[in-house]
Amino acid sequence: MYFIANWKMFGGLSTLNSLKKVIKFLKIFKKSKNIKIIYCPPSTLIRPMFKKVINSKIQIGAQNCHESITYGASTGSINPMMLKNVGAKYVILGHSENRESGETDKLINSKIKAVIKSGLKVIFCIGETIGQKRKKITKKTLSKQISIGLQNVKRRKNIVIAYEPVWSIGTGVIPKPDDLINTINFIKKKVRNIKVLYGGSVNPKNINKLKLIKNIDGFLIGGASQDPKKFIDIIKKTYN
Ligand code: 13P
Repeated sequence: MYFIANWKMFGGLSTLNSLKKVIKFLKIFKKSKNIKIIYCPPSTLIRPMFKKVINSKIQIGAQNCHESITYGASTGSINPMMLKNVGAKYVILGHSENRESGETDKLINSKIKAVIKSGLKVIFCIGETIGQKRKKITKKTLSKQISIGLQNVKRRKNIVIAYEPVWSIGTGVIPKPDDLINTINFIKKKVRNIKVLYGGSVNPKNINKLKLIKNIDGFLIGGASQDPKKFIDIIKKTYN
C-alpha cells in the first residue's frame, strides 16, 4: 500500500518538525515493511525534508516539473533532473489543480516521459470533474487522460496512477463504494500491472469505508497529510 502526502502550496522550514512523529511511528509500526510512504512537499522543502528523512522509510516526491530534462531558459521552472539532484524519487503529474490552470494531456505525456527518462517515478493523477460525472462521461474522460498521458510511455513499472475525482478534492465528499470499485477496476483493465491509488478528501474518518475497497493500492492525501496525527491515524486504521 502507498500512502502519499501531497502538501500542495503549504509549509515552511518549521513545518518539517511534524515529520518527527511520523518517523517515530513508522519505526514501531508492525506493517511498516509492506507500505510505501512518500511525502511531496513544495519544491522549496524537498532538500531540507530529504535531509530529515534520511534513514527512515519516507521517500520524497515533487509536485510537478518541466517537460525538459536539460537546463534551459525557462524562468520559474524546475526539471526532473534537478529534482533528482536534491533527493526526489517521485513526481506528481497531471494533478487537477494544474490541469485547471491549462496543463493538457499532451503536456502531461511529455512530462511523464521526461520524469521516467530521469530515473524518477511518476504519480500520474487522473479524474473527472463534477460536470463530466453528471454527463456520465467519467469513463470516457479517464480513458482519454490515460491514453494520451501514457502514449508511447515505456517502463510503466515506474508509474502509479492516482484516481482523484475533482469533485472530491478538498470537499469532504468521497465516491460511493460501488462507483469507486467500478472505476478502479475500469482503470486497472485499461492499464494492466499499474498500481491504482485513490485521492480526494481522504481523512481519519472516512478511511474505515475506503479501506474496504480492496482493489485500491493506496491513497494520495492532501489536507489530512499536513497533520501528522491524522496521517498516522489513516495508516493505522487502514490495517485495523
Ligand atoms: P484533499 O485530500 O485535501 O482532498 O486533496 C486531495 C489531493 O488533491 C491530493 O493530491
